[in-house]
Amino acid sequence: MDPQSGLDSMKATAIALVATGKGILAADESLPTIGKRFAPLGIESNPENRRAYRELLFETRGLGEFISGAILFDETIHQTDAAGVSLSEALTRQGIIVGIKVDQGTVAFPGFEGEKLSEGLDGLRERLATYRGLGARFAKWRTVTQIDDCLPSSISIAQNARTLALYAALCQEAGLVPIVEPEVLMDGKHSLARCEEVTSAVINAVIAALLEHRVALEATLLKTGMVLPGEGCSDKPGVEAVAQATIRCLERVVPPALPGVVFLSGGQSEVDATTRLNAIAKLGGGAAWRLTFSYGRALQDSALQTWRGSAENVAAAQKVFLHRARSNSLAMQGVYTHE
Ligand code: 13P
Repeated sequence: MDPQSGLDSMKATAIALVATGKGILAADESLPTIGKRFAPLGIESNPENRRAYRELLFETRGLGEFISGAILFDETIHQTDAAGVSLSEALTRQGIIVGIKVDQGTVAFPGFEGEKLSEGLDGLRERLATYRGLGARFAKWRTVTQIDDCLPSSISIAQNARTLALYAALCQEAGLVPIVEPEVLMDGKHSLARCEEVTSAVINAVIAALLEHRVALEATLLKTGMVLPGEGCSDKPGVEAVAQATIRCLERVVPPALPGVVFLSGGQSEVDATTRLNAIAKLGGGAAWRLTFSYGRALQDSALQTWRGSAENVAAAQKVFLHRARSNSLAMQGVYTHE
């Protein structure tokens, strides 16, 4: 593929991922994380249960109307549905673009207590080529930033930004759209203003690193949290204050070349994640980039609780899952109401 047609095709993919009325399903829970989601419901985390659960999600009829792309975990992209169709093919049949999580989780940052680095650069070039062969057209890499009185350190911000940029450059070399996800965690007691300050600094560092690494911003998506106070903060701002802080932060630091910004839900309730997205979309309607969701928990929580690992609950779980997808589709257009 010549470089220009490769870039044009990645740009088209990035734009399709943030199409009007659509957002991304994050179904890329690692083995420890899916285990944590299954355990309270008494569902054993084994390959067959994980396969059945992802089949339930991906084969929900009509999902392609609201979901542009789905992010898979390595195990899932190799699995097939009950009829022997690969789960990535099942998504493609619904018009949903296949994505893949390629970071391999976080480890302690030596010398910086409480901070984390994301692993997975070793062998990444080969893994990306394999995933592209398996149908993936975009990828995701997540870093985490913890806020407290002394954190984050400038070194952890810089190091995570560089890692994201190198990952993004490797993705584009392989013809995959990189989603760069520098997640600022909600854990802690910090204020809304402090989250805005840290989120701005983190995104600013990531954008600078992407440019230094010659990553084409027009074929890249940013995945971020909304600007929210820490879970333990006693001051609970209203939805308008959250939307204003989030849009102000993004408008200051995200260049117009980027086609879209997608939000993680990060532990918000399903309804909060939808209501806040709706307010953000209303306020950010005139921004240069598209805004939409890339939720894991806020799309799946009710569906998983309805399924509970039992085949007889599949239809009911798919119904509540489609309802959340539709609600967030309306919210990304700023036209969601409780009714
Ligand atoms: P949550 O929406 O559950 O935060 O997951 C999104 C995600 O992809 C985190 O990496």
